Amino acid sequence: MGQLVEHDILVIGSGAAGLTTALHLAPHAKVAVLSKGSLTAANTYYAQGGVAAVLDKGDSVEAHIADTLNAGAGLCHEDAVRFTVENGPSAIHWLVDQGVGFTTEMLPDGQEDFHLTKEGGHSHRRVIHAADATGFAISNALIDQVCQHPNVDIYESRVAIDLVTAKKRGSSDNQVLGAYVLNKETGNIDTHRARFVVLASGGASKTYLYTSNPDVATGDGIAMAWRAGCPVANMEFNQFHPTCLYHPDARSFLITEAVRGEGGYLRLPNGERFMHHFDERAELAPRDIVARAIDHEMKRLGVDCLYLDISHKPAEFIQSHFPTVYEKCLSLGIDITKEAIPIVPAAHYTCGGVITNKSGETAVKGLYCIGETAFTGLHGANRMASNSLLECLVYAISASKTIGERLTHSHPKIDIPQWDESQVTDSDEDVVISHNWDELRRFMWDYVGIVRTDKRLARALHRVELLQREISEYYSNYKVSNDLIELRNLVLVGELIIRSAQQRKESRGLHFTLDYPDQLLEAKDTVLAP
Ligand code: FAD
Ligand code: SIN
Repeated sequence: MGQLVEHDILVIGSGAAGLTTALHLAPHAKVAVLSKGSLTAANTYYAQGGVAAVLDKGDSVEAHIADTLNAGAGLCHEDAVRFTVENGPSAIHWLVDQGVGFTTEMLPDGQEDFHLTKEGGHSHRRVIHAADATGFAISNALIDQVCQHPNVDIYESRVAIDLVTAKKRGSSDNQVLGAYVLNKETGNIDTHRARFVVLASGGASKTYLYTSNPDVATGDGIAMAWRAGCPVANMEFNQFHPTCLYHPDARSFLITEAVRGEGGYLRLPNGERFMHHFDERAELAPRDIVARAIDHEMKRLGVDCLYLDISHKPAEFIQSHFPTVYEKCLSLGIDITKEAIPIVPAAHYTCGGVITNKSGETAVKGLYCIGETAFTGLHGANRMASNSLLECLVYAISASKTIGERLTHSHPKIDIPQWDESQVTDSDEDVVISHNWDELRRFMWDYVGIVRTDKRLARALHRVELLQREISEYYSNYKVSNDLIELRNLVLVGELIIRSAQQRKESRGLHFTLDYPDQLLEAKDTVLAP
C-alpha cells in the first residue's frame, strides 16, 4: 500500500531547474524534490560547455539577444530572449554564491577573472564554465545546498507517473493537487499532495536511438502535463548535437562544442576540412547547420563517422581545457593531443515543450514547468549553445518568486483518491516493453531525424499509433514499472514530435524536410492542444 505524503511544493526533478527552484523556495515553505535515480541522475550533471551570459565588458545584452535570435531562425520570442539574457548575469552570481567553482584566468593587468569560452552561434566569448565538466560542478554545489536545507525533503528513486488534478466547484479551470509516484525502493505507488507542483523533469532525447542524454530523459514531464491538459509548442525542433563520440563503448559521450570554440576543426576521413562549404562561420556555425552538414557528408561518402581534431593545439592546453574529454577518449585508446576524435551527431535537446509564461505557469492552476520540459519561446527553431542552463536558472528564479507570492493565499483542501491497483496484475511478458522501446527509438531516428520527408513522417505516425494501442492495453492490465512509465511517455512524446513536424510545411532551424526545403516568410509556432 502506498503512502500519502504532503508538502507545500512538489518539485519533480533534480537538475539545474529543480534544484534552483527548491533552493529559492525552501526559506519560505516545505519543499519536496523527486528524482528518478540519485540526485545526479539528470542531464544537468553531464553538461560540459558551460552557461552563456553577458559577463565580459566587451560583450553586451544586445549582442547576446541578437545571436540567440539568429540561431533560433526567426522563431524565438524576443521578449523571452530579452528576459533571459537580462537576468543571466544575476543568475550566474547566484551560482557563484552557491559555491560553483567556475574556471578562472589571470588577466594581463594581474586580476583574476572568470574564463569565458566560445561556442557555436556566439559572436563573443560569453560561456562561463568549470573546465569541461560544468554540469558536474553545478550539480554538486546545488546538491550540497539542498541536502543541508532543513526545509527540503529529498526523494530519490521515485518516478512520477501522473499529475492529480481536479476542477474546482463552479470553475472550468483545472487545478493541480499533486502526483502519483512510483517508489522504486518499495514498488508501491505513493500519493504526493502539494499546493504547487513544479515539473522540472528535463527533455525527451531518449525518444531517439542515439542520444547524448542519460537514461532519465524520457519526456515524462511533457507527457504528464499533456495528459493533465497543457498545450505544447514546437515539439518538432529536436536538437542534434554535431559531435558525440563514435565508439562502440561510449555511444552517448559528448565532445563539447567548446572544443570547436577553442579552435578544433571538423574533418572528413581524408583529413580535409569541409564546414566552410556550408557556412561562413565554419565550425562555429549554429548547431543545426553543423549537424546537417555532418549528416550530409556522412551520407555522401557512405561513412559511419567524421572527425573532430584539436591535436594542432599544445597538449598542455588541451589537457587543461578539456580534462574530461581527454581522459575519456584516452581510456578508449584515443589520444586527442595527437589524433582526431571520431564523431557523429546524436539527439541532444528538446527545444519544444509545455507552454509557459515568464513565471513558468502552465494552463493548469498551480502547475509550473521549468527547464528543458518547458517551452518559453527562448530557443525558437534551434537553441544556441549554453543557453539551456541559463534558461533553467532564470526561469526557476522567476517561478519561485511567483510561487512565493502565492504561498500566502489560502487553498481549499480537495481530497485525492489513492492510486487503484485492484484491477491489475504483475506483467508476465516484459519483452513487450523492451521490444517497443527499441522499435520506437529506431524509427524515430530513421524517419524523424535530421532530414525528414512527408512519407517518413507518415510511416512514423502509423507505427507510433500501433505502439500506443499496445501500450495503453498493457498499461491498463499490468502493474506499472519504471520502464513501462517511461515507454508510455516516450511514445506520447514521439507522437507529439511527429504531429508537430507534419504541421510545419517548411524547413526552418532544426526541422529540415526534403518536401519543403525553403523557409516560409512568416515564422509561426506549432501549437498542439490535448
Ligand atoms: P535535467 O537536468 O535533465 O533534470 C531532470 C530531472 O528530472 C532529473 O533529476 C530526473 O531524474 C527527473 N525526472 C525526470 N522524469 C521524472 C519523473 N517521472 N519522476 C521523477 N523525476 C523525474 N546546456 C547548456 O546550457 N550548457 C552545456 O554545457 C550543456 N551541456 C550538455 C551536455 C550534455 C551531455 C547534455 C546531455 C546536455 C547538455 N546541455 C547543456 C543541456 C542541459 O544540460 C539541459 O538542457 C539541462 O541540464 C536541463 O536541466 P533540467 O533541470 O531541465 O533537467
Ligand atoms: C556542449 O558542451 O557542447 C553542450 C553545450 C550545450 O548543449 O549547450
